[in-house]
Amino acid sequence: MRKILVTGALGQIGSELMVKLREIYGVNNAVASNRRIKEGHEALIENGPFEIVNINNLKQMADVVDKYNINTIINLAAILSAKGENDPASCWDINMNGLYNVLELGREKRLQIFTPSSIAAFGPSTPPDNTPQDTIQRPNTMYGVTKVAGELLCDYYYKKFDVDTRGVRFPGLISYETLPGGGTTDYAVHIYYEALKHKKYTSFIDKGTQMDMMYMPDALDAIVSLMEADPAKLKHRNAFNVTAMSFEPEEIAASIKEHIPEFKLDYDVDSGRQAIADSWPNSLDDSAAREEWGWNPKYNLEAMTKDMLEKLRIKLNIED
Ligand code: SER
Repeated sequence: MRKILVTGALGQIGSELMVKLREIYGVNNAVASNRRIKEGHEALIENGPFEIVNINNLKQMADVVDKYNINTIINLAAILSAKGENDPASCWDINMNGLYNVLELGREKRLQIFTPSSIAAFGPSTPPDNTPQDTIQRPNTMYGVTKVAGELLCDYYYKKFDVDTRGVRFPGLISYETLPGGGTTDYAVHIYYEALKHKKYTSFIDKGTQMDMMYMPDALDAIVSLMEADPAKLKHRNAFNVTAMSFEPEEIAASIKEHIPEFKLDYDVDSGRQAIADSWPNSLDDSAAREEWGWNPKYNLEAMTKDMLEKLRIKLNIED
């Protein structure tokens, strides 16, 4: 039986992944951890095992792994791209030294490890369209540097120490449960909140900037499917390109206008985040994930927009 520890469990991905893991594997087999308690997550904290864990504290993590007989770590604790540019030292410390601790525990205690990489693992010299699985990776953000180094480190632990490491390169993730913190693709989440609350949104990402995106239910499926995939079929490990859609701000705005015709989009471009977005691919080739472990996302832009607006209307208590 799997006994899973999720780090960063109160973040954007973790808060929804925990619910799914507890459904699939049983409440007591999915331990949530975060470096601090965050408001709004009382249900997750009270409904099952929860521990305060700082991934930079190896002893603290090892104690939790022993306490619950953990055999799988899903390592979601990380600093995202825009925040990473404001504080590169913390970004390195959490994303790299934290991951190193997780991998060391994987080696010592024979754990399976999932670590997400990102479209940020690519850079300006990467082919931007239909970006191949195996290609140039020279990112120019600290977040991107930690993601490439993280991919390499995870592959190293697999090859050298036979640790069962696996990962995907997530695109921008869109969800209604928990807001993302400090990413470049966050505009594609904020736009839905503002469309419902004020029928307008000012985008910090410029017109014409295409990026890969994915709705959270598909992202959660990606994690579980890859963790459960037959290792004999995996030619790659860290990390698989995955995507569900690729759009620019005008396209997400058009999909919102189908439901809220008065919606207006304008721009006040943030040069820092725009430079990051410009360095990332327009669209990924995810055929390796499809071939090796059956990746097959369910939500396109239209289906995501319909569901996001329905769910957010309820959450924000906004009438149709
Ligand atoms: N969504 C992330 C970010 O914008 C990309 O991994 O930083």
